[in-house]
Amino acid sequence: VLLVRHRMKKSRRWARAMAILQELEEKCVTPAAKLKQVADAMTVEMHAGLASEGGSKLKMLITYVDNLPTGNEEGLFYALDLGGTNFRVLRVQLGGKDIGVTNQEFAEVSIPTDLMVGKSEELFNYIAEELAKFVAKEGQDFQVPPGRQRELGFTFSFPIMQTSINSGNLIKWTKGFSIDDAVGQDIVSELTKAIERKGLDMRVAALVNDTVGTLAGGRHTHKDVIAAVILGTGTNAAYVERAQAIPKWHGLLPKSGEMVINMEWGNFRSSHLPLTEYDAALDSESLNPGEQIFEKLISGMYLGEIVRRVLRKMAEEACIFGDTIPPKLNVPFILRTPDMSAMHHDTSTDLSVVGDILKSTLEIPDASLKVRKVVVEICNIVATRGARLSAAGMLGILKKLGKDVITDDENQKNVIAMDGGLYEHYAEYSKCLENTLKELLGEDVSKTVTFEHSNDGSGIGAALLAASHSQYRD
Ligand code: GLC
Repeated sequence: VLLVRHRMKKSRRWARAMAILQELEEKCVTPAAKLKQVADAMTVEMHAGLASEGGSKLKMLITYVDNLPTGNEEGLFYALDLGGTNFRVLRVQLGGKDIGVTNQEFAEVSIPTDLMVGKSEELFNYIAEELAKFVAKEGQDFQVPPGRQRELGFTFSFPIMQTSINSGNLIKWTKGFSIDDAVGQDIVSELTKAIERKGLDMRVAALVNDTVGTLAGGRHTHKDVIAAVILGTGTNAAYVERAQAIPKWHGLLPKSGEMVINMEWGNFRSSHLPLTEYDAALDSESLNPGEQIFEKLISGMYLGEIVRRVLRKMAEEACIFGDTIPPKLNVPFILRTPDMSAMHHDTSTDLSVVGDILKSTLEIPDASLKVRKVVVEICNIVATRGARLSAAGMLGILKKLGKDVITDDENQKNVIAMDGGLYEHYAEYSKCLENTLKELLGEDVSKTVTFEHSNDGSGIGAALLAASHSQYRD
């Protein structure tokens, strides 16, 4: 009798697990028709954000980049890339006249987590110090002409209301940063003050978002680059807009007739987005509730955390990991997206990678094969939804530019520069994203759109923009 009862209990629990899985799947589906609604909503919001400041959740920020690199940039420039858990410093020697980069070196430094939520001065002191150390190691191969100040392209990957190419105020933090006294401040002057405190003689020539840097870096190698998308800790896109299509721009019309727009698409939201109870809870417990909703569905900071929340519910209501809830499952952000990716890509018959990761990150030693399969399925559902939604965002941009159809241009070619760890390392995600965009565009149009992985394009791009905005340029 006991054995029969035990079996019944087990099968009831399993049925509950399957019901939770099925519900997740149903809530996360993204058929093409839905994605097209999302894309249309994106296009509508783009128009609204360009029409007036505050006109939309999409900020559609003016970047003051009205000329993308030409290939003639020349000289030694520095770049500093801040936007995730690491920051990078870079020095680049540019050869001029289509020669491109002749020499480069970089260093990567992780940001202590307490600095991400502390005081502005502390964060910038830390950055300036690392920058100074890096500059001190500048070798003979790199040359600043005598009497010249070193110049820096500053990639700062948060929403900034720019007031010129090298100044702008922080609108808000995203992605786990929260330093109250920096909000509203001119980020270039915060950095410059710290640089001066360290006694370093360096000028910030350009302040750019990572999407804008990637666009500039991508354009440098490929003239058909029209937009850049970052899929990393956060997500965002920038693209080249006609200046005349920006009603809120009251400045002079740039000679090029163009202006790069930083969309800040992470803050997009629409009733068409497939949201679940897990997303709602993640959002309300986050550092920025109600904000960056698109980002919270798509980007690397959050995907693993969504999976953790689903697993916790299954542990609670269906006891898939035994009679008690493994304590680690209660720890926010403990399951990182790289771990999720590794589990999702596990091709071994016994899903040993899944087993290892459950053990090492969540301290769950003995998940059965049946349970491991469920874990992989959850990763698949969550990643697929994110990838397909980012494809919908891209369709929205192509629509805005009238490039989602075959145009009169015989050489119709549109390249989207891509970067970010999620895109780079989560193969199932990027594959799904590219396939989905094909599916949405149809065969003919999709032949005109290609992706280009612009590896660290944003750092090089920032150096290039520093060069084209140098105080010494002729
Ligand atoms: C976040 C930031 C945005 C950045 C993106 C990718 O969405 O707000 O500025 O481009 O992350 O790093």
